Amino acid sequence: MSLDQQTDPSTEQDSDNHPSGMMLEPATFVHQFESLSYQHDALCVDEVSAELLAQEFGTPLYVYSKTAIMRAYRAYTNAFAFIDHRIHYAVKANSNLAVLGVLAEAGAGFDIVSSGELARVLAVDADPSSIVYSGVGKSKDDIKQALEAGIGCFNVESMSELDTLDRVADEMGVQAPISIRINPDVDANTHPYISTGLKENKFGINHAKTIEAYQHAQSLENLSIKGIDYHIGSQITDLDPFVDALDKLMELIDELEAVGITFEHVDLGGGLGVDYIDEDVPSVAEFADALMPKLQILQEKGMTILFEPGRSIVANAGVLLTKVEVLKPTEHKNFAIVDAAMNDLIRPSLYGSQMAVLPCVLPSGLVQSYSSVEAKTWDIVGQVCETGDFLAKNRVLSLAVGDILAITGAGAYGFAMSSNYNTRPRACEVMVDDHDYQEIRAREKVEDLFASEQTWKLG
Ligand code: LLP
Repeated sequence: MSLDQQTDPSTEQDSDNHPSGMMLEPATFVHQFESLSYQHDALCVDEVSAELLAQEFGTPLYVYSKTAIMRAYRAYTNAFAFIDHRIHYAVKANSNLAVLGVLAEAGAGFDIVSSGELARVLAVDADPSSIVYSGVGKSKDDIKQALEAGIGCFNVESMSELDTLDRVADEMGVQAPISIRINPDVDANTHPYISTGLKENKFGINHAKTIEAYQHAQSLENLSIKGIDYHIGSQITDLDPFVDALDKLMELIDELEAVGITFEHVDLGGGLGVDYIDEDVPSVAEFADALMPKLQILQEKGMTILFEPGRSIVANAGVLLTKVEVLKPTEHKNFAIVDAAMNDLIRPSLYGSQMAVLPCVLPSGLVQSYSSVEAKTWDIVGQVCETGDFLAKNRVLSLAVGDILAITGAGAYGFAMSSNYNTRPRACEVMVDDHDYQEIRAREKVEDLFASEQTWKLG
């Protein structure tokens, strides 16, 4: 990928991310996103001008390319075409019904973590048996709803969940299909908040306790053992943790077979990272190649291989469009205050994520040489009353009030993690397909935000 860096001496002492000021050459940079391009100086998502979308729907605005989502999904189905596999899209990454609907239509299954996500998947008429249910703390009610829906498998994360599942299934007179999520104690080398496969993390059952857990499951009459699974973390940019975790899983499978416990499927979770700006990430094909010899062994034993990708399906299919409201140069820093904020996109504040910021319209005639325009180093910040409210720091950009900027890589864990902090209505979402586009979630109205609240009436 191409990334030009340009040093701005005024920010060299800044210890924040990219202290020297980062400049992306927009027209070159967008080449890494197949759905983005500059056409006549205007940034387009597929064939639709981002600036025109911002004018029609307002900002902040999430825009997703249907084609890019489908392409990312197909990268998985193609890479694993030679083995018996199923892709269960991780709904948490982007749970808009339009996104779920197009993936369901393409044949994807789903990985859910709440009754809310279950309701969304059922709302798009997906096949309930294509659902796997992850999550560390499922309540009795969550379990009941999922059993009523007839989901494909519960990914069980604790001994007590096995007991609860058995009791609820007994009360309902059904069998609960289960897989046990093991914690393989593998370091995914990612941000600590999204590393899930270490023994100090709350997730899964310690791999040393797996045989005991399966034997307990076997002793429970209302459980039916279907599989074994793990999910070791997210935004993983190196193949080694995936390979190490699979090695550990294969050893466990042998040990379990020796005591008579066998599986219909193995679920390897999600976690494959994406290239936001300059990450060197393996492609889905490289990911598949690294695992394939081992997966073939599992397939020979009659097992289907399941994956739960989220980010790698939707992240780079989405942008967040935002308008520059105020430019505030100061002696120490230049702030560009935009109308999106940490409530709309929390990833930079929470994980220190770096996402690219691109102008939606290039200064005329400068498509190939944006770096020659007069630019300053800006922190792109929101209107929320917190210093932690920033979307990007030290970006070399040429800005004017009213400009529309696009934050790339916003399709995963963007809108899905947004909130109403500061009583800010959540953004509108639009899906684009070639020249067509459709609003897929209306912008919230301020009145809706407190419609279910009441003033104190008891004196
Ligand atoms: N399966 C399970 C059980 C998970 O917990 C997750 C994500 C996935 C699959 C999908 O992982 P992916 O392919 O998207 O990496 N909010 C964070 C990411 C949290 C991921 C949580 N689990 C972020 O914005 O980076």
